[in-house]
Amino acid sequence: MQIQNQEWAQSTLTRIEAKMARVVARNRHIIPYTTDQAGHFQDMDVQNPYWWTNGFWGGILWQLYHLTNDQLYREEAIEVEEKLDRNLQRSECLDHDNGFKWGLTAVAHYRILRDQAAKNRGMLAAENLAGRFNLNGRYLRAWNDLPDQNRSGIVIIDCMMNLPLLYWASEETQDPRFKQVAVAHAKTAQAHIVRPDGSVKHIIEFDPVSGEYLRSDGGQGYGHGSSWTRGQAWGIYGFTLSYEATKDESFLNTARQIAQYFIANTPADHLIPIDFRMPKEPWWEDDTAAAIAASGLIELAKHVAEADAAIYLNAAVALLKTLVEQRCNWDQETDNLLTKCSASYFEDQHEYPIIYGDYFFIEALTKLAGQDINLW
Ligand code: GLY
Repeated sequence: MQIQNQEWAQSTLTRIEAKMARVVARNRHIIPYTTDQAGHFQDMDVQNPYWWTNGFWGGILWQLYHLTNDQLYREEAIEVEEKLDRNLQRSECLDHDNGFKWGLTAVAHYRILRDQAAKNRGMLAAENLAGRFNLNGRYLRAWNDLPDQNRSGIVIIDCMMNLPLLYWASEETQDPRFKQVAVAHAKTAQAHIVRPDGSVKHIIEFDPVSGEYLRSDGGQGYGHGSSWTRGQAWGIYGFTLSYEATKDESFLNTARQIAQYFIANTPADHLIPIDFRMPKEPWWEDDTAAAIAASGLIELAKHVAEADAAIYLNAAVALLKTLVEQRCNWDQETDNLLTKCSASYFEDQHEYPIIYGDYFFIEALTKLAGQDINLW
């Protein structure tokens, strides 16, 4: 069974490589987020050079470089990394998403080619991220302030995916501070974000002075008390990565709890909605949640007994096969892969291409094919 899955993933990756060779060749010198109506990437570096997703294109390029050794991918990935330097000049443009931005660009570059300038960028990003730690609340603040809102008490589930930057910094420097901060944050998220049924909240808020837990808010899912699927996926993957970095069994158990909840709530057609608790109408999907959950489940399967691993792998394969057969655009003249991604329940647009959906889709397939590089 797993051999069949591996062969299927490899043949799917071969199709992706053929398409992406065309896509990258005609999309040089940009940082995509989504496409226009004609299926052509737009340049997010022009629209917002500080946007949290601006590292994912670099991640896709490093994955493709690893698969093919084509130097074009390496050159384009380094260009993305260099463009991100503008973020490092503006403290108000640095936030907890430093992990997403530099983990998949500078740190990936350093991991693959041992480039010293890339290591320096990764360390600057890690030091800034560690500086967001609130000592009394034992959390990393998520976002920066709005003109009319102090957001120093806000924590979100997504941050679990930014912790690997800190684990990497400790490993690289042999200075335990970064890991200590990451573990403290993960423990806080475990205590306050994960519900007893394995679902996760999106946003929680602390008193930033006393550190006291105050409340949870709705966020990008349907609302307070709901179950935003991308948040569930960040939880599966993020707690698995914290387990890998620490070997703390409680993180593994939390990842398993969220995974069980995700699998139990996955619809029979394996098409993932934006929120597991949203009304039946309107029904909008989010392919990013499916792709992130698939990659997280494959990662989680590495750490559990065979019978449980089979459950996680089968769930991941079902998600990926559904994306490949029903939600992937294989036309080589169209830039995106996944077609029905949704950033948020309460936004005007739903079910469109989003770059991090494509990143995790490719990443999950590389893992299933036994071709992965560890970029987290
Ligand atoms: N990290 C933001 C999001 O998942 O939309």
